[in-house]
Amino acid sequence: MLTKLKKLEAAAQQALDSCADADALEALRVQYLGKKGELTALLKELQSVDADQRPVVGAEANRIKVELGEAIRAKTESMDRQRRQQQLESDSIEDVTLPSGLIMPGAIHPLTQVTHRIVEIFHGLGYAVADGPQIETDYYNFSALNFPDNHPARDMQDTFFVENGLLLRTHTSPVQIHVMERRRPPLKIIVPGAVYRHDDDITHSPIFYQVEGLAVDESITMADLKGTLRRFVVEMFGDNTPMRLRPSFFPFTEPSAEVDMGCPNCCGKAKAKGCRLCGDSGWLEILGAGMVDPAVLENVDYDPERYQGFAFGIGVERIAMILYGIDDIRLFYDGALPFLEQFA
Ligand code: PHE
Repeated sequence: MLTKLKKLEAAAQQALDSCADADALEALRVQYLGKKGELTALLKELQSVDADQRPVVGAEANRIKVELGEAIRAKTESMDRQRRQQQLESDSIEDVTLPSGLIMPGAIHPLTQVTHRIVEIFHGLGYAVADGPQIETDYYNFSALNFPDNHPARDMQDTFFVENGLLLRTHTSPVQIHVMERRRPPLKIIVPGAVYRHDDDITHSPIFYQVEGLAVDESITMADLKGTLRRFVVEMFGDNTPMRLRPSFFPFTEPSAEVDMGCPNCCGKAKAKGCRLCGDSGWLEILGAGMVDPAVLENVDYDPERYQGFAFGIGVERIAMILYGIDDIRLFYDGALPFLEQFA
């Protein structure tokens, strides 16, 4: 039996050496190691070997089985490598200048486009871009902005809290504080950025974008605020767009206002019927604004007797939805190409 095995191993080795391609190797594997292969047949004969010989013969047969299998695999791999190498060397590109036909140019996301446009408008009015952290402390997001402890206005912000008393900023207004802490008036800044609220439906997303504005100087008035916002609305939506200020409340501005623009869908004619955009009110809210509350100025060591300011917060999605007639905010975040390609 041991002699038979020796012979088989020698024959297999010889056959392996003369194998010239992958098919020959596979045939060899089947011939020896396949279900009806020669080595498999020998292994079956093992039962007829004397019991005291069996372990030795069995071990030898197994060794051959493992080694032969390994040798076939190794040769298959090396031939594969060789073949690929040859193919690489013989392949040549005939004309490297031919167009591939598959280039899909990317496009700037509509929210980014609208943000750029807003920033550009205020840039033209002398505002500089500022930036701040998205993970905030209670102090910057609330207290410094004159939200009293336990005031219901905090609940209205649907805050996401993270560890160690930190939170995801619910608006871009905390950047007002960061900037005023670092700088003295006069200042005019614009702050585009992501904000977070626990809110999710066709007009609300848990992450959305705002552009904050802040101007502080001596003798700034509400008329400056209104004139600035008027300029913005005209640049963004056109000369004849109606606009109105509605009294409102924010802890950090006094007085405060919400700003509406005439619904571009029904042209601000409140008597229109069935307008999906404005629900027949003829008006669409586009931003919150107001005169910086003296308490906020005091929190950053500005003298409220000497300085006044105004602030506003524009919802980028809101502006984009009105501009492009989009009624589901989630379209901005789905990443669906048929939607996004329309803004290329
Ligand atoms: N921070 C307010 C909000 O997110 C908007 C705002 C900004 C209002 C600045 C007034 C002044 O709702």
